[in-house]
Amino acid sequence: MSSASKLSLTRRPRRLRRTEALRRMVQETQLSVNDLIYPLFVMEGENLQEEIPSMPECYRYTLDLLLKEVADAYNLGINAIALFPKVPEEKKDNKGTESYNPEGLAQRTVRAIKKEIPDITVITDVALDPFSTYGHDGIVEDGKILNDETVEVLVKMAVSQAEAGADIVAPSDMMDGRIGAIRQGLDAAGFIDVGILAYSAKYASAYYGPFRDALGSAPQFGDKQTYQMNPANAQEAITEVELDIAEGADIVMVKPALAYLDIIRSLKEYTDIPVAAYNVSGEYAMIKAAAEKGWIDEKKIVLETLLSMKRAGADLILTYFAKQVALMLR
Ligand code: PBG
Repeated sequence: MSSASKLSLTRRPRRLRRTEALRRMVQETQLSVNDLIYPLFVMEGENLQEEIPSMPECYRYTLDLLLKEVADAYNLGINAIALFPKVPEEKKDNKGTESYNPEGLAQRTVRAIKKEIPDITVITDVALDPFSTYGHDGIVEDGKILNDETVEVLVKMAVSQAEAGADIVAPSDMMDGRIGAIRQGLDAAGFIDVGILAYSAKYASAYYGPFRDALGSAPQFGDKQTYQMNPANAQEAITEVELDIAEGADIVMVKPALAYLDIIRSLKEYTDIPVAAYNVSGEYAMIKAAAEKGWIDEKKIVLETLLSMKRAGADLILTYFAKQVALMLR
């Protein structure tokens, strides 16, 4: 059906939107299952899964059931998982000593996953908060978070995760100098091929609330503003990334993602190494809550949200929606 031209327009951008085939042909950004990293929570026990109240359809699993979930994800084409242990209260202390126990929950879980599904990339979290009585990412002294003492523990934690078989360690703690120290520690222990995904631009964000519910890791006093970044700062993200790359980061990350798309873009322009974005627990919870109320179309919102992160420049996305998205992309 042609209609007579009323306006004399040389350019009509709508021409390339006319059919599905045309739209697909000129689509600039693609979301792929290869981009997805699936964060998972593991807890002690057997044959149990607990739904996280503020994260509907997201569970903490005991190791036996977690293995099924990982296999499920792998069968859907997901190549990587990020592991977070829920540490029993009695194993917590100020120095996070349980974090480098070779028989700790994270280490046992990594070994089991690597035995069952050796091809999936296992990324481990390096930070003290799940192991800390104070729920802080570092050792506490007189209400302060000690940097260098904490980094010593982080190195031990990273090495013990590498010993267990982690492919990539992911420091999420925001202590200064931890990437360089961890790189040296890994190399000295012979793990030259274990990568580092640095949570480089990690903001002091209210979007982490549901995650802290999941792990029971909320700070017992104060907040994390002396180590995580001020949400008002963009330039400082470049400083952090510059340091992390100089210290040996293989991948840099922005976290949270949705409220920080400008940061993702500027880091992508700054560096040629892969940029990851963490679609965090609060972002997940907001979509789930609105969808439960019937106020939004969950599937479409999820795809649009993750696409926006890729369009901003993210090469990789950590998302609790990973399985759901993998299914939709089939
Ligand atoms: C802590 C850590 C947090 C998250 C990942 N690692 C929370 C925090 O910094 O308090 C949040 C992830 C999410 O909200 O999905 N090292």
